[in-house]
Order: sequence, then structure tokens, then C-alpha cells
Amino acid sequence: ETEKTLAGKTVLITAGPTYEAIDPVRFIGNHSSGKMGFSLAEQAAKRGAKVILISGPSAQKINNENIELHKVTSAKEMLSKVLEFYDRTDIGIASAAVADYAPKEIAKEKIKKNDENLTIELVKNPDILKTMGEKKTHQFLVGFALETQNEEENAKGKLEKKNLDMIVLNSLRDEGAGFKNDTNKIKIFTKTGKTEFDLKSKEEVAKDILDFVEEQVLRHNTE
Ligand code: PMT
Repeated sequence: ETEKTLAGKTVLITAGPTYEAIDPVRFIGNHSSGKMGFSLAEQAAKRGAKVILISGPSAQKINNENIELHKVTSAKEMLSKVLEFYDRTDIGIASAAVADYAPKEIAKEKIKKNDENLTIELVKNPDILKTMGEKKTHQFLVGFALETQNEEENAKGKLEKKNLDMIVLNSLRDEGAGFKNDTNKIKIFTKTGKTEFDLKSKEEVAKDILDFVEEQVLRHNTE
């Protein structure tokens, strides 16, 4: 039996990819499976938290009655779902791989192939986590950074720019880390420190992240 260290807390987690429609049959997406976010949800629920899990398209399943799963498709839908629950959130964890751009227009009918090349104009999507950072009142906010180069600088930049309390870096340069794998290798940054972890199962990584969050939240509340 897991100790109920998060009893009384509401944890909001974003997970999975977003799909940005091009036409009724096609979309722009990414390789996120949702495993990292669903593992976090499962572990937070085991610790007694009420979990609001907002996920893009994912085949992952949940089996814990403390998890309320809201399925969305696009970044815009994810943002509006997040905002519905944000005021009630104590701890927000953004593990979703949100598409940064979406097609400017969604074609009503399937785009027909012809002999020409096809250009699709993309416009910027809202930054969900940045919006959460701007609206932060009492929430403890955790972001992820998925990088392929200048990993640490980029992660620290996001911590600052998005007004986060901590950020979890995973690099696609590390074997077994990031998308789809059942494992991940992370580094956690706060405003003052850096902690490195070994390659582990996403279940174990989720435990490490929540242990870290709990320690930070405690410190936060006693300062
Ligand atoms: O789902 P899995 O297959 O298990 O893979 C897990 C994962 C690799 C997707 C996960 O561990 C991870 O790194 N998630 C964040 C991916 C990402 O989009 O990172 P980013 O560096 O582009 O974004 C930085 C942060 O801003 C993230 O917390 C992201 O959720 C958030 N963001 C980004 C863009 C946007 N428009 N809105 C956001 O909220």
C-alpha cells in the first residue's frame, strides 16, 4: 500500500500528443504515446491525489477511480479543458507533446491529389503551459522539455519563460528516453538546482518526479 502523501491535492496532468486537422482524414501530430503522462497520473492517484488527466489521442488505459480522464484532440481543445480545471489545481504537470503549429484552415473536404506540390500554411498554437504560468496563483507548476540540442540551456529557458517551479528534461539524444519507449532518462531543474536520474521505467520515473514535487511543495509551503 502506497503512502497517501498527496491526499487532499488536485493534480492536473496533460499527456499525449495533439492532432491538428488538415482535412477530414489527415492531421499533423507527433510520436507521443501518452505513457509518461499516464504513468504520472497512475502514481499520483496511488498517493491519494485527485487526478485530472487531460490527454490527446493515446491508446493508454487507466484503472484508478481517482483519475478523471478527459480526452481531447487539438491543442486548442486541450487548453480550454485545462482552463476549466486550473483554478482547482494544486499541482500542474505538463507532459503533453503539444503541436506548436496548426493548419490555418481545415479543409472541409478531403484534399484531392493533383500533379502540383501542396503547401499548407501553419499558424502558431496557444502555449498551454505558458498560459498556465501566466495565470498562476497558488499552483505548483511542472513542465517538461523535450530537446535534441542545447538541452540544459533550453530547459532552463523554458523554466524561466513559462514561470514554472520545476522542469523535467528528457533528451532524444539519450537512448531509451523520450517518446514511445517504456523507459525514460530525466534531469530535473528548479530555479536553484539540477538533479540527474538514471534510465528507468516510466513508472519509476513518475515516482521520482512525484517524490521531487512533494519535497519542493513542502519546502514551498514552509518558506
Ligand atoms: O508520451 P510518451 O511517448 O511517453 O513520451 C513522453 C514525452 C517525451 C512526450 C514527455 O516526456 C515530454 O517530454 N513531454 C513534453 C514534450 C514537449 O512538447 O516538450 P517541449 O519542450 O516542446 O515543450 C515544453 C513544455 O511546454 C512541455 O511541458 C509542453 O507540454 C508544454 N507546451 C508546449 C507547447 C505548447 N503549445 N503548449 C504546451 O503546453
